Parts: sequence; C-alpha cells; structure tokens
Amino acid sequence: MIFGVIGAGQMGAGIAQVAAQAGFEVFVQDMATEFLARGENTIEKSLARLHEKGRLDGTPAEVLGRIRFTTELHDLAHCDLVVEAIVENEAVKAELFRTLGAIVKPSGILASNTSSIPITALASASGRSDRFIGMHFMNPVPLMALVEVIRGHQTSDETARIVTETAVKLGKTPLICNDFPGFVSNRILMPMLNEAIQCLMEGVADREAIDGIMKLGMNHPMGPLTLADFIGLDTCLSIMEVLHRGLGDDKYRPSPLLRKMVQAGLLGRKSGEGFYRY
Ligand code: CAA
Ligand code: NAD
Repeated sequence: MIFGVIGAGQMGAGIAQVAAQAGFEVFVQDMATEFLARGENTIEKSLARLHEKGRLDGTPAEVLGRIRFTTELHDLAHCDLVVEAIVENEAVKAELFRTLGAIVKPSGILASNTSSIPITALASASGRSDRFIGMHFMNPVPLMALVEVIRGHQTSDETARIVTETAVKLGKTPLICNDFPGFVSNRILMPMLNEAIQCLMEGVADREAIDGIMKLGMNHPMGPLTLADFIGLDTCLSIMEVLHRGLGDDKYRPSPLLRKMVQAGLLGRKSGEGFYRY
C-alpha cells in the first residue's frame, strides 16, 4: 500500500511516521518546504527516542528513507490511502478534497484526521463519498493506541474494512463511530478542556491547581490546560465552534478566554506560549 499524508504538522508528521514504521511507502505533502522540514525534524526526534529505548524495528534512517516530502499534490496521485491532517477549517479542508478527488487514482481511499468536522460534508466535496472516511489519530500519534474511525453517511463497508485493517497494521486499535459533531472523542474531551479554561477565567483556581486537581484527582496523565496547550488552542477553539454550531446547545459555547488567547496568537506549545511558556 502506498500511503499519502497531507499536512506535516504535529499530526501529519506522526501519521507519516507510524505508516513508515509499519513498512509503507509514504508521501507527505505540505504547502512549503519549511513546513516539511519542521515535520521531518519532528519525525527524526521521535524515531531517535524510540530507537534509544529499543522500541523501533530497524534504524531511524531506514524508517525515514520510506518517507518522501513534497509540496506537489500530484505526487500523491498513485496513493492507495491519503490521510489529510491540515488546519481544522471546514472550507479549507473541503477545497483540498475537491482537488484531491480529481488527482488521486479512482480506487484510492481519502480519509480525514479532522477532530470534529462532518465527514459526510468532506466526503461530498471529494466526489467519492463511498471511498471516504474519518481516520482520527490521537496526539502524540507514535504513542497513542486509538484510531477513531468515523463512517460518513455513504462510506462503504469495503472502505471501513480496509481502513480498520490498515489501522491495525499501524499498531493501533480502531474503534468505529458514526458521523456526529466531535464524534465520541472530542464531544466528551473538549467540553472538559473548555470548562477548565472557564474555571481559570472565573478565578476558581490558578492554572497549577486546575491541572493538579485533574491530574492527581482523576489520574489524568496531563492536566486539562496542559493538554489544551499540547493539542493547540486554535484547534480546541475550532472544535468547540463545530460542537456549538453542530449541536445547537449553548453548553458547548467556547470560553471567551480561549477565544481571546487564539486572537492573541497564544496557541500553546506550537507557538511557544499558551497557558504555559515553552
Ligand atoms: N515520540 C516518541 N516517544 C515519545 C514521544 C514522541 N512524540 N513523546 C513522548 N515520548 C516518550 C518519552 O521519551 C517517554 O519515554 P520513557 O517512558 O521510556 O522515558 C515516554 O514517551 C513518556 O514521555 P514523557 O516522560 O515526556 O511524558 P509523559 O509521561 O507525560 O507522557 C504522554 C507523555 C504520552 C503524551 C502523556 O502525557 C499523555 O498520555 N498525555 C495525554 C495525551 C492525550 O490525551 N492525547 C489525546 C489528545 S486529544 C486528541 O489527540 C484528539 C483531538 O482531536 C484533539
Ligand atoms: P498543525 O497546525 O500542527 O499542522 C497543520 C499543517 O497543515 C501545517 O504544517 C500547515 O502548513 C499544513 N497545511 C495547512 N493548510 C494546508 C493545505 N491547504 N495544504 C497542505 N498543507 C496545509 O495542526 P495539527 O495539530 O497537526 O492538526 C491537523 C489536523 O489534525 C486538524 O484537523 C486537527 O483538528 C486534527 N487533530 C489534531 C490533534 C491535536 O492534538 N493537535 C489530534 C487529532 C486530530
């Protein structure tokens, strides 16, 4: 199987890495070489950590050698499965899938790693709704076991079968759900993170106490503010907006503090500052 990944950010880099670790040939596309270089650097560092701990089959160079980095979408024309991991914006993703639908060979499956955007709408834009699916990896991809597989309204059984089998080949556990805003993962996770941000804004506790209470009290590996920084506050805001709009209930209203931080360019770990400095 030839694998394609669009977007070399934190998720795209991770998806390309696990596909290459599984032995697939991988093409990664992003808009500019600087974004590709940053993605390659992320993969190199992660592979080095896994290699040091004896958790990598083969050498980092062998794995990296299976990945080609390109700014040309046409280089993905022969891919059997293309996973999109670009910015969480429905209009931008739909435009990309309109283009990909015309470029990738007709038998190729198109998948989105979207956190919340309707799979059925992106499937329609691609012009191949039966061969379209949500393949939602978790961050950090090389370590997290889950792939949430989201069937769009017209996703075929064959497409769902191929994608779940591929997830298993990547060492992941696929779990299937239907196409509702935020799916299962972010319908449950993101309101919790949003509420933690609201607690900070209202002065219920300081950031260390909010994170500490959830870490020590609930045994979460990261506190909610640390996790929001880790995911990216722009992505968190986009997901809350999809939940708010899609489910039409004010309980999903994004915290004004989250909105303000994104307006200020404080996006979390990826911009160097969010609730914490990095
Ligand atoms: N690649 C390879 N190895 C990595 C790595 C990476 N990217 N990141 C961390 N590691 C390794 C470390 O080297 C370390 O190895 P050892 O235990 O052998 O020393 C191990 O993983 C643990 O790392 P750390 O000690 O640095 O930190 P940690 O113990 O806190 O673990 C974590 C890191 C696994 C990320 C953990 O904090 C965690 O599980 N956090 C929660 C992550 C989470 O909730 N993800 C889901 C986000 S939501 C989402 O993805 C969906 C969405 O749409 C928004
Ligand atoms: P990111 O900001 O780290 O990376 C996005 C990458 O996409 C950037 O390198 C950017 O240059 C590239 N890009 C943007 N528009 C593009 C286009 N039109 N064509 C090609 N490349 C383009 O974002 P991320 O955190 O990797 O998130 C990517 C996707 O994965 C989003 O849909 C997000 O919701 C989803 N996701 C994120 C997480 C997370 O924890 N961050 C977890 C699961 C899913």
